[in-house]
Amino acid sequence: MKIANGFDIMNYAKRHGIMLPAFNTTNLEMTYAIVKGLNKAELPGYVQISSNNLRLSNPDVITYITQQAMKDSDVPIALHLDHGKSYEDVKACVNAGFTSIMIDASHLPLEENIKEVQRAVEYCHFYGVPVEAELGALQGKEEDIVNEADCKTDPDMVADFVERTGCDLLAVSVGNVHGLDLTPKVDLPLLEKISKVSPVPLVMHGGSGIPFDIIQKARQYNLLKVNYGSDLRKAFVSTFGVGYEKNHNCASVIELSIEAVENVSKKAEELVKIINA
Ligand code: G3H
Ligand code: ZN
Repeated sequence: MKIANGFDIMNYAKRHGIMLPAFNTTNLEMTYAIVKGLNKAELPGYVQISSNNLRLSNPDVITYITQQAMKDSDVPIALHLDHGKSYEDVKACVNAGFTSIMIDASHLPLEENIKEVQRAVEYCHFYGVPVEAELGALQGKEEDIVNEADCKTDPDMVADFVERTGCDLLAVSVGNVHGLDLTPKVDLPLLEKISKVSPVPLVMHGGSGIPFDIIQKARQYNLLKVNYGSDLRKAFVSTFGVGYEKNHNCASVIELSIEAVENVSKKAEELVKIINA
């Protein structure tokens, strides 16, 4: 199967009442694991990579790896730029074959956020690629993005932000946090308020650590995409940690990598199934 277009997978999910997980990858192993896990669950989702995680590879490499992984896929999977840092990153990913894009300018003042998103939308829509934007800011640490400010999304700003930017997905800050160090306290009434005024579906970042019943309840509030990074990274890193603890002379990267693919795919399968239970 080819990498699915972002608009197509969103429409597919809406038609079938499915919540789309967006699983963060860094490398070949995690990408293969995510595709494997989604296929084992027989449910769609995203492979996504942040600008920060593209430092060791590049958009062309990640697209190629995902295309290879998709050869055996029977479920639709889109390739998404997560927390896109710049217009240059957006263009590079679209040109490489990414089928969905986030431009994350939520750390900028509102008008600059809007301008950055408008620019990305202009480019991406020309190539039929949807754009995710963020209004408000999440606490916590997402690799290189550290944010102390707990700046929740203001429902009164949502409609205007979406109209003016033309974004197709809106990432919200409703008490969700990045990473595993802080405890998420998702404010469902706030999410409900936002869902009533947002013209586009919503995205929950910081999926790791959010109780599953909260995610399942949030589906009724037009939540379409849930991002999971730390849970999968932990499954990957702990495979090598356990392997090394067992045998400090262990040097079989291939055996540990194969085991890591298995562990990450199991985690991905578990997550996509439970949020769609
Ligand atoms: O964009 C990626 C996600 O927001 C990852 O968050 O590491 O808390 O699952 P998480
Ligand atoms: Zn995030």
